[in-house]
Amino acid sequence: MEVQQTAAPIRGAEEAKQKIVFSGVQPSGKLTLGNYLGAIGNWVGMQQDYRCIFSVMNLHSITVRQDPAALRRQTLEVLAQYIACGIDPAKSLLFIQGHVSAHAELAWILNCYTMFGELSRMTQFKDKSKQHADNVNAGLFTYPVLMAADILLYHTDLVPVGQDQKQHVEIARDIAERFNGVYGDVFTIPEPMIVRSGAKIMSLADPTKKMSKSDPNQNAYVLLTDKPEDILRKFKRAVTDSGSEIRRGEDKPGVNNLINIYCAATGSTPEQVEQQFVGKGYGDFKMAVGEAVVEVLRPVREKTEDLLKNKDYLEQVYTEGAFQAARLADRTLEKVYKKVGFLAKPKR
Ligand code: TYM
Repeated sequence: MEVQQTAAPIRGAEEAKQKIVFSGVQPSGKLTLGNYLGAIGNWVGMQQDYRCIFSVMNLHSITVRQDPAALRRQTLEVLAQYIACGIDPAKSLLFIQGHVSAHAELAWILNCYTMFGELSRMTQFKDKSKQHADNVNAGLFTYPVLMAADILLYHTDLVPVGQDQKQHVEIARDIAERFNGVYGDVFTIPEPMIVRSGAKIMSLADPTKKMSKSDPNQNAYVLLTDKPEDILRKFKRAVTDSGSEIRRGEDKPGVNNLINIYCAATGSTPEQVEQQFVGKGYGDFKMAVGEAVVEVLRPVREKTEDLLKNKDYLEQVYTEGAFQAARLADRTLEKVYKKVGFLAKPKR
């Protein structure tokens, strides 16, 4: 298979034509339906209209202890899943975050332009420090600064993420504005982009909680690698609410979540779903949602399995991606060095 990553031109900051999209997923476990409907699945269509850059965020993963062999395996698996979902290396730039050193370098610099107080307000930091009380490390605290560096290095206009990452994109904006306020127009100010139906997919076991790969209950989430029978079983067991109608409501987190998932998987609106299932019970609806999800995920799982058999191809994609990303990122970093008063790095 031939790899091309140069299909569309990427602007230097000044000659903006096509808007730039940047996003990524941490390889800290297997990807869930939430990652797909909230993020990756929405990136695919953006490749038509935008210059897209997608990265596997392995530097972020070690804020929580990882098994090294599993992290390496999952990093490759996430790359394969990007491609299996429809991210085309001929259209989009795909790379692994840890292969481009400018991310860590810019993160250090931006740390010095980020306030302790604003990082203390991040809800993900508060949640994760409760969840991992024995390992509240400095990386967990400064994580949003690294995420700001990821985004700002590429003059990103749009960041397609799920609802839970909105606060991190907002702090990236604040950091960029603060830096630009001191040094002039260095960074593009990014905007979060959040889809309606997939923005926050909730746990199937407790629909008041986000669906998350770190949930100890395996019935709470659907993985992109789950087999059809497992997906159907998980939906069959999904927690619903009192009552029996398929209708949204403030006191109906279970039904709301299933309607959302069905909409995100099929492209229907919530009104259409309510219409379609008039007179049907929860059992029928849960099967219908399960089947819709099976159909969406089937090709992703099959293609991922094929791609993982072809490690040379994956290596070719991430190697070419690393060079291209580094070229772009280093240009931004050079400018930042100059602005803050560092001597330029010697060139060979
Ligand atoms: P991560 O790896 O936790 O999640 C990846 C993407 O999936 C979305 N997501 C969800 N969307 C809807 N419902 C859910 N239950 C759900 N769970 C996860 C997330 O919102 C995210 O879009 N910090 C980021 C990774 C990152 C990044 C970046 C993203 C690092 N640098 C720069 C964008 C730009 C994270 O931990 O996502």
